[in-house]
Amino acid sequence: MAFDIEKTLAHIPERSLKADAIKATGLQNTDDVISMGVADMSFKPPSVVLDELTNEIQQGFFGYYGGKNNYKAALKNWMKKMHSWEPKSEWIHTAHGLVAAIGTALRAYTSKGDGIILFSPVYHSFKKIIQANDRNPIECRMDLCKGKYYLDLGRLEGMLTGQEKMIIFCSPHNPGGRIWSLEVQRELAYFCKRHNLLLIIDEIHNDLVFPKNKHVTFPLAAEGLFDNFILMTSTTKTFNIAGGLMGNVIIPNIKLGIQFSKANMATGESPNRFGMIMGERAMQEGQNWLKSLMEYIDENRNIFDHEINSIPLVRSIRLEATYLAWVDFSKLGQDESSIMKKLVSDAKIIANPGSSFGLGGNKFVRFNLATSKEIVKEAGERIRSIFEN
Ligand SMILES: Cc1ncc(COP(=O)(O)O)c(C=O)c1O
Repeated sequence: MAFDIEKTLAHIPERSLKADAIKATGLQNTDDVISMGVADMSFKPPSVVLDELTNEIQQGFFGYYGGKNNYKAALKNWMKKMHSWEPKSEWIHTAHGLVAAIGTALRAYTSKGDGIILFSPVYHSFKKIIQANDRNPIECRMDLCKGKYYLDLGRLEGMLTGQEKMIIFCSPHNPGGRIWSLEVQRELAYFCKRHNLLLIIDEIHNDLVFPKNKHVTFPLAAEGLFDNFILMTSTTKTFNIAGGLMGNVIIPNIKLGIQFSKANMATGESPNRFGMIMGERAMQEGQNWLKSLMEYIDENRNIFDHEINSIPLVRSIRLEATYLAWVDFSKLGQDESSIMKKLVSDAKIIANPGSSFGLGGNKFVRFNLATSKEIVKEAGERIRSIFEN
């Protein structure tokens, strides 16, 4: 069962964040607006997932979820098949989405005022959830060299004050789509060990990897040297089922697992029936769909990069993973608000301003490429026509 482009959604559904973002532009005529902000895809999930949910609806049972053991078996199998590492069942906890899980982890392992380290620019909700929990985000800026981001652990070491308790690490990285090698992750593991830092690894984009690239799941890098970590994964990005709000929190360290369980219980967490059912089915039979999806988005990436890189002084960072293009407009000499204004008013494109991703993001823009080729081409042409002169 391969990915089928005919299954592209014809319209942006009314009850979606994308529809809200279009309304928020305030544009009179929104018919030709291209929505490239919100990180979900314009594609229907695999048909096995749709069929499974349809069966559930026809059955008419919308009560509490049960059947976690089957879900865990599907996850273990998926991790083994896709990432060559298999968690034990008792290491797997569920959550209402990974941002919620990070909030739970913050409350489980840190105290108000503690420093929480991020490698910026990074997914904006990390900083928000840290601040909403009264912890202190510490942004360590990554270096961008020849179109690739690098961690600078020397810089981070120089920033440490002793108040830092945790690092939240995004792998593959959003934005920029960087895949972190085993060696880089091992260095990070040593760093955390040396400084007694708990490491949260958000691998929500771990399956969205372009052909010829390989994601390395963190436990492979940490094996035998470090277990003060929490691995978070999900099916929601991979199969476009983010509305199913669920996620996996994998904790090999028994003591950390007990602490997380307690904090999770304090939130009243019990699995979202529809998310779990969709996720389980997707992991059982979604591999071919995913392969075709990434081949399709790979072509989108080429189309988009070709258009963008033909604009003098503008560069699209070459993605290794994710469908979220990251474009550097900083050499244009325009401020970010005017770049964003031109995108919305002139190009009629909604995208994410880079400054919302923290240090090093200013004058970059993130564009979602998980839509049809025609739309990606049209978007690239509009951006080129506006910024090429
Ligand atoms: C790195 C990262 N983590 C988490 C999320 C959101 O996860 P959830 O919907 O499970 O809260 C996103 C969404 O774009 C993301 O990019």
